[in-house]
Amino acid sequence: MAYLQSNLLLLLLAAGAATADETTTSVRFYMHDVMSGASPSAVRVVQGANSTGFSFGDVLVVDDPLTEGPAADSALVGRAQGFYAFTSQRTDAAAAALLLCLNLVFPNGSTVAVMGHDPIYAQLRELPVVGGTGAFRLALGYALVRTHTRNTSSGDAVLEWQLHLASNNSAQIDPSSTSTPSGPSSSSTAPRFPSFHFSLFCILILHFLIK
Ligand SMILES: *[C@@H]1O[C@H](CO)[C@@H](O)[C@H](O)[C@H]1NC(C)=O
Ligand SMILES: *[C@@H]1O[C@H](CO)[C@@H](O)[C@H](O)[C@H]1NC(C)=O
Ligand SMILES: *[C@@H]1O[C@H](CO)[C@@H](O)[C@H](O)[C@H]1NC(C)=O
Ligand SMILES: *[C@@H]1O[C@H](CO)[C@@H](O)[C@H](O)[C@H]1NC(C)=O
Repeated sequence: MAYLQSNLLLLLLAAGAATADETTTSVRFYMHDVMSGASPSAVRVVQGANSTGFSFGDVLVVDDPLTEGPAADSALVGRAQGFYAFTSQRTDAAAAALLLCLNLVFPNGSTVAVMGHDPIYAQLRELPVVGGTGAFRLALGYALVRTHTRNTSSGDAVLEWQLHLASNNSAQIDPSSTSTPSGPSSSSTAPRFPSFHFSLFCILILHFLIK
């Protein structure tokens, strides 16, 4: 009986997973963090402990272009809007780190929210994707970030981003719709994995039936 029960459980769990509306997305782009020139895309709004160079406590607000390739004139695919703060007291390569807090804003209005620890001198950094809107509603995932180039005298940098996330495909906004995107309605109190809850319910019922 226990054998039959565990097999049914597996079947139900599989059915629950198959009906989930999750979709996975992988996107690569380059972020241009420009501090120099007449219209910098990164501006320091708070100066930290040391006025020479960057130091603990500095905060920069950014509106960085995201492009298909690493060149500045490569096709624009979106913007990274947000801020980063120097949150490590040490500024040496081994320990310098930022709190990076960004909305990746795509031209069709879909956004991805990224927030995490960025040890800027590490060759590869992993940042958490904590949410999204539009095509990326209910997004969760991670971003792998590499410094493509950095000009040590101006601070200008080009960063390669590889975004991997799972989101709810069926929550996509219909691009042909002329109305403004609808937010979650007051009646949409459905749990995130209703099919999973349904599976649990079935398992409970079966448990008592089999007994
Ligand atoms: C400020 O930064 C400069 C350059 O990075 C460094 O040489 C200096 O020691 C720092 N001063 C303090 C008080 O940390
Ligand atoms: C919007 O743009 C993103 C990023 O390019 C893309 O992945 C998504 O499929 C697009 N569609 C909608 C409906 O937002
Ligand atoms: C680096 O920045 C400095 C100062 O803005 C500039 O003079 C120099 O041309 C830049 N180097 C490169 C390779 O872009
Ligand atoms: C995805 O979104 C649709 C429509 O908003 C909803 O009915 C469904 O339950 C969601 N599924 C998951 C796995 O979040």
